[in-house]
Amino acid sequence: MENVLVVGAGFMGSGIAQVCAQSGYRVYLMDVSRQALAKGVSGIKWSLEKFYSKSLIEESPQSVLARITTENDLTKASMADWVIEAALEQEDFKKEIFKDLDRLTPAHTPLATNTSSIPITRIARVTGNPERLLGLHFFGPVPFMGLVEVVKGAQTSAEIFQRGVRFVTSLGKTPVKVHKDLPGFVMNRIFSAAFRECVDLVSDGVVTPQDVDLGMRLDMAGMSGLLRLPIMPVWTPLSG
Ligand SMILES: NC(=O)c1ccc[n+]([C@@H]2O[C@H](COP(=O)([O-])OP(=O)(O)OC[C@H]3O[C@@H](n4cnc5c(N)ncnc54)[C@H](O)[C@@H]3O)[C@@H](O)[C@H]2O)c1
Repeated sequence: MENVLVVGAGFMGSGIAQVCAQSGYRVYLMDVSRQALAKGVSGIKWSLEKFYSKSLIEESPQSVLARITTENDLTKASMADWVIEAALEQEDFKKEIFKDLDRLTPAHTPLATNTSSIPITRIARVTGNPERLLGLHFFGPVPFMGLVEVVKGAQTSAEIFQRGVRFVTSLGKTPVKVHKDLPGFVMNRIFSAAFRECVDLVSDGVVTPQDVDLGMRLDMAGMSGLLRLPIMPVWTPLSG
């Protein structure tokens, strides 16, 4: 059984720990706050019980939970096959965490950050081996959301990037491969652009907020993808 160390047991970290355990990984869920760990585990238990009662998972909640242990420090980093950091969104904090992870984990272990906005490349620079750092950008609530962006930093190796894609797939999620480390990655940039346009249309008196949402729900939800519309040019796919 492979070991995943999840750093940060808040909203995202606890969700990530849950899907990893549901997928058969042994999980070390680490947080500096014991209160956050207790809250994280009780949230996971609640969520697993809901899934189980609706027959969305076959394994019992107790059995999934038995694969999660909580940690107050990084002692278990030496046993990690994967690390996913989901601590506070503050660059200095994350850099300190990755300096420690770089020192404490085996050299072959991929180090992933779930940051939403801090450049992967900048975090990677504090480590001695920036090739093994990548972004795994989960969407919340993690147990419900199907997508994970796999983000390549400027120095992430092709091998680690591909391992990221396989790892995300092993969690039953769909990887979106992001080949460049740019602010907001891909999905949040698209959401932000669409949101700005909606706000402009409403403030210009063109449409009501209710009709915008109605249109989005009825039209966009069934769409197979913007770039598959016949008016769009055919793109040359990126390799990898
Ligand atoms: N909330 C979202 O919808 C969302 C979506 C995608 C990505 N993210 C990213 O995920 C990360 C976590 O977000 P969240 O919403 O779960 O935050 P959160 O505030 O719920 O949880 C953060 C946790 O990190 C812990 N922490 C702080 N310093 C730590 C350290 N040094 N070591 C270990 N744990 C530490 C805190 O105690 C807290 O429990 C952020 O980088 C955020 O940008 C959030």
